[in-house]
Amino acid sequence: MSLEKKIETLKAKHAAAEAGGGEARVSKQHEGGKLTARERIAAFLDEGSFEEMDALMVHRTPDLEKIPGDGVITGFGRVDGRPVAIFAQDFTVFGGSLSEGYAKKICKVMDLAMKIGCPVIGLNDSGGARIQEGVVSLGGYADIFLRNTLASGVVPQISLIMGPCAGGAVYSPAITDFITMVRGTSYMFVTGPDVIKAVTHEEVTKEELGGATTHSARSGVAHFVQPSDLAALAHTRELLSFLPSNNLGEAPRKAPRTPQPLENPDLDSVVPDDASKPYDIRLIIKGIMDDAAFFEVHEAFAPNIVVGFARIEGRSVGIVANQPAFLAGVLDISASEKGARFVRFCDAFNIPIITFEDVPGFLPGVNQEHGGIIRHGAKLLFAFCEATVPKITIITRKAYGGAYCVMASKHIRTDFNFAYPTAEIAVMGAEGAVNVLHGRAVASASDPVAKRAELIADYNEKFANPYIAAEFGFVDEVILPRETRKKLVRALALLDTKRDTTPPKKHGNIPL
Ligand code: HXC
Repeated sequence: MSLEKKIETLKAKHAAAEAGGGEARVSKQHEGGKLTARERIAAFLDEGSFEEMDALMVHRTPDLEKIPGDGVITGFGRVDGRPVAIFAQDFTVFGGSLSEGYAKKICKVMDLAMKIGCPVIGLNDSGGARIQEGVVSLGGYADIFLRNTLASGVVPQISLIMGPCAGGAVYSPAITDFITMVRGTSYMFVTGPDVIKAVTHEEVTKEELGGATTHSARSGVAHFVQPSDLAALAHTRELLSFLPSNNLGEAPRKAPRTPQPLENPDLDSVVPDDASKPYDIRLIIKGIMDDAAFFEVHEAFAPNIVVGFARIEGRSVGIVANQPAFLAGVLDISASEKGARFVRFCDAFNIPIITFEDVPGFLPGVNQEHGGIIRHGAKLLFAFCEATVPKITIITRKAYGGAYCVMASKHIRTDFNFAYPTAEIAVMGAEGAVNVLHGRAVASASDPVAKRAELIADYNEKFANPYIAAEFGFVDEVILPRETRKKLVRALALLDTKRDTTPPKKHGNIPL
C-alpha cells in the first residue's frame, strides 16, 4: 500500500471515530439540548490540549455494528494548565452503553491518572450495561468501580451527569468525590420508572425519581446542579481551581482580584444581639474570604449546614458552618453526613478546614433517633477527629452540648479556636437547663413565670458567654468579628508547616 493510501486509511478511521453514532443521532442529541461527547471535551479543556487515546477501539460482539471508539472518548488534557484525565460517554453510540472495550478505555486513563497524580473527570451520558454484551459488560463496570475506590483519596474524581444514567452508570459517579447534574436533561436511578411500576406499583416520572432537583435537594446524591452542559463544564473548571491535583500536592494559590483589608467592621453587626434571631452565616463567610467569594457545595441539601470552598490570601480553604438561618443551624442526620463527607474530602486533599459554629445541638425527635442520628452524627465527629489538616474554629454564637464537641472543638485537635463575644458555650440552652435543674422550684414558686425568667437570666449570665471556655483554654482567644480575616491569615500562615498523624492502621472504621 502506498504511503498516501496509508495516510488516507488513517484519516478515514479517525473520521469514522469522530462521526460517533452518525448525523441523525447527533441531531437528536442537539435537539434534546445536549452537546455531543466531543463538544463537551472541547468546551471543558484548555483549547487544543486534548490528547485522545484508543479512538479506534471497537467491541467484540458478533453481529453488532462496529463504531470506532465504541461509545466513549477518553484521554488527557489540561485545565488552567494542569493535567487531567477525562472520559466522555457518547450517547449517540448504542446509547452510551458500556461494553468490555469501553470499560477498558476508562480503566486505562484512570490507571495512568493514578500514576501521574491528576484528577479524573467523567462526563456521563449512558444507558448502563450494554445489553448485548451481558456479563462482560457487568465485569467492565466492576473494573471501573475498583479503580474509583482505589483512586479515592489519591486523586480528585469528579462526575458530571449529562444525560440519562441508569443501572451501573450511577455507581461509578457515586464513589467519586463530586457529582454535578444538568437540570432538565440528566437523570440518575438504579431502576427506572417502568421497573418501579412493575415491582412496587408506584408511578413516578423520570424527573421526580432521579432528576437534578431530587438528587440535589432530597437524596443528596448530587453536589451541584447547573442549567446547561456548558455551565456545568465551566463550573467544574472552577471547582478544580480549589483542588490540588493529588493527595501529595497543594491547591494552586490564586491572588485575589482586589487586595482586601485584614479587618472588616461590617462583621461586628452580623450576629444579632438576641440569641434566638436567625442570620445568614454566609454573610460572615463572604465578609472574610478573598473577593467575598464562596463556592458552595451541596447548597440545596441539608441547608442547616453550609459547606464549600473559598480562598484566604489566595490559599484554598474548606468551610464548614452551621447555618442559623435554617432550622437554627441544628445538626440532623443529613447535615451530619453532608459535613462529614466534606471534611474527609478536605482532609484527604490537604485543604485546611475552617469551621464556623452556631449550633443549638442535635435535632431532637423520634424520626431522627429511629433514623440513626447516633450513627450518622458520629460520622461528623469521626471526620473532624480524624482530620490532620490545619483546623481553625470560630464560635460565632451557640456551641451547645454534644455539638460543641463535634464542631471541631479544641479537644479533637483543632489548632486555633476563636470565639466572638456573642459566643454561648454550655451543655444546653437556658430554657432547657432551667427545666432540668429547677423544674420543682419553678412549679412551687408563687409566681412561676417570674421565677423561671429569673432563673433563665441567671443561667445566661453565668454560662451564655465564651469566657469560661477561655479560662480553661478551650478557646484560645475571644476576638471581635471584624478581626476574623486577620486572625485566619496569621493562623493559616503558621499552620503552613503543620504535621500531625493518626496511629498506623489499615483504616479506621467510620460509622457508615
Ligand atoms: C444497549 C442501549 C442501551 C443498553 C440504550 N441503548 N440503552 N443499547 N444497551 N443498555 C440504545 C437504544 O437501543 C437506542 O439505540 C439508543 O441506545 C438510544 O436509546 P433510546 O432508548 O432511543 O433513548 P432514550 O429514549 O433517550 O432513552 C434512554 C434510556 C433508555 C432511558 C437510557 O435507552 C433505557 O432505559 N435504556 C436501558 C437502561 C438500562 O436498563 N440499562 C441496563 C441497566 S443494568 P438506537 O439504535 O435506536 O439508536 C446495569 C447493570 C450494571 O447497568 C450493574 C452494575 C452494578
